[in-house]
Amino acid sequence: MEDSNIIPRSPAPVELSKVVDFLNKNLRLNVAWPISKEYPTAVSSANLHNMSIITDESADKILSHALLRPFICKTPHAIFKIGAIGSVVTDPSARHQGLSTKNLENCIAKANEQECDFIILWSDQHEFYRKFGFELAGFEHSFQISQTPPIVNKDFKFMKSTRIDPAAILKLYNQHTVNSVRTVDEVHQYLNIPNANVFTMWTPQNQLVAYAVEGKGIDLQNYIHEWGGSVPDVLDLLSYIIQSEKKPYTFMCPHHSTNLKNRLSLMSDFSNIGFLGLIKINNFERLALKIKKMFLAEGYDQIILEKKNGEIIFGHKTDLYTLKNEADFVKLVFGPTSIKELGFVANDTAQVLEKVLPLPLWVWGWDSV
Ligand SMILES: CC(C)(COP(=O)(O)OP(=O)(O)OC[C@H]1O[C@@H](n2cnc3c(N)ncnc32)[C@H](O)[C@@H]1OP(=O)(O)O)[C@@H](O)C(=O)NCCC(=O)NCCS
Repeated sequence: MEDSNIIPRSPAPVELSKVVDFLNKNLRLNVAWPISKEYPTAVSSANLHNMSIITDESADKILSHALLRPFICKTPHAIFKIGAIGSVVTDPSARHQGLSTKNLENCIAKANEQECDFIILWSDQHEFYRKFGFELAGFEHSFQISQTPPIVNKDFKFMKSTRIDPAAILKLYNQHTVNSVRTVDEVHQYLNIPNANVFTMWTPQNQLVAYAVEGKGIDLQNYIHEWGGSVPDVLDLLSYIIQSEKKPYTFMCPHHSTNLKNRLSLMSDFSNIGFLGLIKINNFERLALKIKKMFLAEGYDQIILEKKNGEIIFGHKTDLYTLKNEADFVKLVFGPTSIKELGFVANDTAQVLEKVLPLPLWVWGWDSV
């Protein structure tokens, strides 16, 4: 296929089922459910404008696909618009012709149009995505737990069922300091994702106080990737899960969940600090403005953060530093690099910058695509 003939486009509504078939054939062979059930808010008619396909010359056969799923993430001092990219795949017969490159460029352009601050994706093809400016960044803490202390709230009730009021789940979810904006209907769809278990904990008066979700389609089996509730209640629920299911689970949580991390590390067989995903800054100026506002909320009004001739200049007052590479900057903004680890930032300035960086961020299991 000639490069100029490769024109990515959004599927028409009548093509959605064909897209689902293409994705199932290439990414979900031998599973009993359509991939749209796994990603109900991404592979859906409501998100068609953010899907990008390339077909053969007859326009009949889909050769390649990628999608963008934008969402809003609330953190204590800033609201971010994040674009998640997923289901990037090319038919084996059409690989190495630049098709995924075109679809990715199209998704990145869509993220730009929709004013996403940054883009995140999950893949083990790091080198492929580095060419587009993605870098492994952010944190994902995981703890393998096989033994838990006895349940503290003995008169509370526990349940393993997806038949729960989505509004009650959403209420607990919204108590996280970092969360994405979800509707009750979206939570309802997430609760119906196949091959997942939802565990809940209730007061004797039938009030939901904690939930935990294991599995998500073909992914995250034996991983608790979604949860909500106070730390003691979530730990009680975890004790119930381990005791009733009689197998170890890996609990995933964000960097900023300090109390929970401390408690989990005391009971875990082993733990790991991984990356949140491959992240690309989409609009440097807009993100820099948001970061400076976060510093302002902490009382610092003289933070410098700008891009000049491709280099990033940052610092406090007149104490300025340069990073030549945006990838290094991504790791500084989202972690895991700490300001002190850079080795060249003066102590006073490092102390100020660490008030806000790394940004607290977590893209919860149900939001990943
Ligand atoms: C990874 C994947 C999506 C790439 O799709 P693709 O359409 O082959 O991608 P491209 O053609 O744009 O680029 C692939 C490679 O071909 C090279 N390439 C692009 N155009 C080329 C051309 N005309 N001639 C030769 N090579 C070319 C690219 O530089 C790239 O090189 P790299 O692998 O060394 O980075 C595809 O291999 C795939 O579907 N894999 C299985 C699913 C998967 O793993 N998806 C990722 C998880 S979401």
